[in-house]
Amino acid sequence: MLIDIIAGARPNFMKIAPIIKVLDKRMKEGGPLRYRLIHTGQHYDARMSGDFFAQLGIPEPDVNLDVGSGTQAEQTAAIMMRYEKVLLERPSNLCLVVGDVTSTMACAITAQKLCIPVAHVEGGIRSGDWTMPEEINRMVTDAITNWFFTTSEHANENLRRAGVPEERIFFVGNTMIDTLLANMERLRQPEFYNELGLEPGKYVVVTMHRPANVDKGDSFSLLLRAIGNSTNPAQVVFPVHPRTAKTLNELGQVPDNFRLVDPQPYLEFNYLVKNALAVVTDSGGVTEEATVMGVPCITLRDSTERPETVEIGTNELIGSDPELLRKSLARVLEGKWKKGGIPQKSDGKTAERIVAALESCMA
Ligand code: UD1
Repeated sequence: MLIDIIAGARPNFMKIAPIIKVLDKRMKEGGPLRYRLIHTGQHYDARMSGDFFAQLGIPEPDVNLDVGSGTQAEQTAAIMMRYEKVLLERPSNLCLVVGDVTSTMACAITAQKLCIPVAHVEGGIRSGDWTMPEEINRMVTDAITNWFFTTSEHANENLRRAGVPEERIFFVGNTMIDTLLANMERLRQPEFYNELGLEPGKYVVVTMHRPANVDKGDSFSLLLRAIGNSTNPAQVVFPVHPRTAKTLNELGQVPDNFRLVDPQPYLEFNYLVKNALAVVTDSGGVTEEATVMGVPCITLRDSTERPETVEIGTNELIGSDPELLRKSLARVLEGKWKKGGIPQKSDGKTAERIVAALESCMA
């Protein structure tokens, strides 16, 4: 039985790594499943893709669709046309997609239209915000998914409400957390750490790349100023996503205490977060990682598809209001941020549960 494992963009790579490890192990033990790794090429830079393969021990993709950058529709169309060709030449028995990026949705549609069943890892989560392309990707993917591997009770509930029968929902936990726990001892200080004189608990990490936050220079600059003013003299380390870099270039300047660095490889990025005083982000995955590492997390969004990071974890949603951002950072600096706990099934065994379920579903 052949499974296509789909990965396209940075947040996919840490989600597939543990599944591939368990599949390889089961194969050696005589397990029935084989896989073909398909990289869509949505992210292609070493910093956005290659570094993650190398650090997480992900094998070279069997197929690279090489779609590159484009608008949402251009990327979707290119992935569908190229993946369809692969499937027509050699069909697989299952298409396994992870997360909520354009590659996830495009490959799910392509496979299902060729009557190849789809499994969605991280299925069922919803922010309710249709202005985010990821929410559309989640909804479309889940509408045509056969087996859902879920990360939270919220996800299970969303699926039940949509009429998905219980036997198609597998509450397994989070493969991104499998990767984090497996690598916790390997986290690596970035080279610039000592050069900048960074010290544990004394700097803030910022990541921002959502179009709503970074595409408009004026509002983006207000957020940066709020962060700069409320954290000075502490340093703010900002690994800059390519989309964000474009707006930053136009702005031309950032607050004095900002340290702009390239997008970081996995081990370096999580070292930075683990040792930070706090994280300010608009990412979804970073809120989960910060929660598991117990680091205060301020999210620059109005909604989240991962409410457990707020209810149980260290995360708080503050939207894009610079004043609220200032107040939140003040609370962090005064040591008044909530402590937070660890969400259910964050035990590093999610991939094992997924592969066991696949073996029984596909038998
Ligand atoms: C995508 C995902 C988002 C995820 C993010 C993480 C969708 C809809 N969005 O957004 O969920 O959080 O990845 O990074 O799938 N670029 C490069 N090098 C690359 C890849 C992209 O320079 O290797 C540039 C592109 O030219 C483009 C910009 O980065 O201008 C955005 O890339 P794109 O893949 O369109 O979406 P992301 O914003 O990265």
